[in-house]
Amino acid sequence: MASKYQAPRGTFDVLPEQGRARRRVERAAAEILARAGYEPIQTPSFEDTELFERGVGKSTDIVRKEMFSFEDKGERSLTLRPEGTAPICRAYLEHGMHKLAQPVKLSYVGPFFRHERPQAGRYRQFHQIGLECIGTDSPLADAEAIMLLSDLLGELGVPGVELHLGSLGSLAARQVYLQALKAHLHAHESELCDDVRERIDVNPLRAFDSDDEGVQGVMASAPTIVGALEGEDAEHFEEVKALLDAAGIAYVVDPTLVRGLDYYTRTIFSFVCDALGAQSEIGGGGRYDGLIEQLGGPATPAVGFAAGIERILLALDEEVPAPGRDAFVAVADPSQRERAMALAVELRHAGLSAEVDLAGRNLKSQFKHADRIGARRVLILEADGSAKLRDMQTGEQRDADPGNLVDEMTGGGS
Ligand code: HAM
Repeated sequence: MASKYQAPRGTFDVLPEQGRARRRVERAAAEILARAGYEPIQTPSFEDTELFERGVGKSTDIVRKEMFSFEDKGERSLTLRPEGTAPICRAYLEHGMHKLAQPVKLSYVGPFFRHERPQAGRYRQFHQIGLECIGTDSPLADAEAIMLLSDLLGELGVPGVELHLGSLGSLAARQVYLQALKAHLHAHESELCDDVRERIDVNPLRAFDSDDEGVQGVMASAPTIVGALEGEDAEHFEEVKALLDAAGIAYVVDPTLVRGLDYYTRTIFSFVCDALGAQSEIGGGGRYDGLIEQLGGPATPAVGFAAGIERILLALDEEVPAPGRDAFVAVADPSQRERAMALAVELRHAGLSAEVDLAGRNLKSQFKHADRIGARRVLILEADGSAKLRDMQTGEQRDADPGNLVDEMTGGGS
């Protein structure tokens, strides 16, 4: 029966058959990040709106158009988190993590919210896997973040992935560059679309991202920040590239790469996947050396990434088969139900997957059900206390020692 209610626009239910593929992604990520020493952190699903305004930047699309903001009963403005980096920096400061050994290496997985126009790969509630490495400006940390995302996508078997790499320089260098870029845009104002023209002074970098043909023409001759890198910024970028070369990770230097958040400095990167269509970025990140200071803390360099779980799943387009069960404990007589439940619990404690009938089926229907859920073996508890064991693949059935059923099932018996 169709329900009167549906999941809100841009959201979706994760049904069990999709949950299995999702769990595989989350487990692979948890393992890969843990092996590199990234410890899990969780922050609330909503934060003070101001955190994102200051952290992500007032001129970004995210803050201007995409935040789910609301007032609580105390008239505070709160926002469902559109991203995880600003909240983690807030937590880093709030819990005095700068006093810990640096860098602090954190990983996360969870839901994020952006009020975007929904399409394949773009949702209003989506999930990210990410890491933040806070408290070092070493290019090794940039390279490590990139390598870990590359490892994850490789281990999962995501096809057709390309890494785009850029650098925005330090905050100071970026300011100098932005003046040059603004001057270029102002010189060509008449060729720009309204959206870009209105934002020349607040967010000129976004012009690189525009789909407008006129803007693209103007940007083809615009100065690039990668071309303008000098001194330590240039050295930092060279080292990141050398580390990736040494690790055998292929990349394309993309001087026009920009990202939709204001906090980036120096390295930025983006993994795109040709299987994804319009929303081709599967994950990305970069360095954000000014963010913690921007939020009121001490100057603290940091780098990180986030990848979209739904985009990974779309690119993989795979079905993970149902796992089946090691055992189904059937009862030949209702008097044996309690014994069956106790036995299933014992089997589970011994590490096996085991189920009992929860619907009052007769023995024939229990076998049917056991078959449907992929049970490899069925234990049948008889009314007289005896037991039988049936192999569902071969159909072979034999008597089992009722005092030794767990051992029989785990192979620990004689
Ligand atoms: P972001 O590029 O905004 O970066 O998002 C990271 C990833 O989240 C994207 O590459 C994409 O896979 C996924 N994503 C973003 N928006 C949506 C959406 N509406 N629907 C589905 N997936 C989406 C950040 O969020 C930064 N916090 C990454 C970072 C961490 N930078 C440094 N540390």
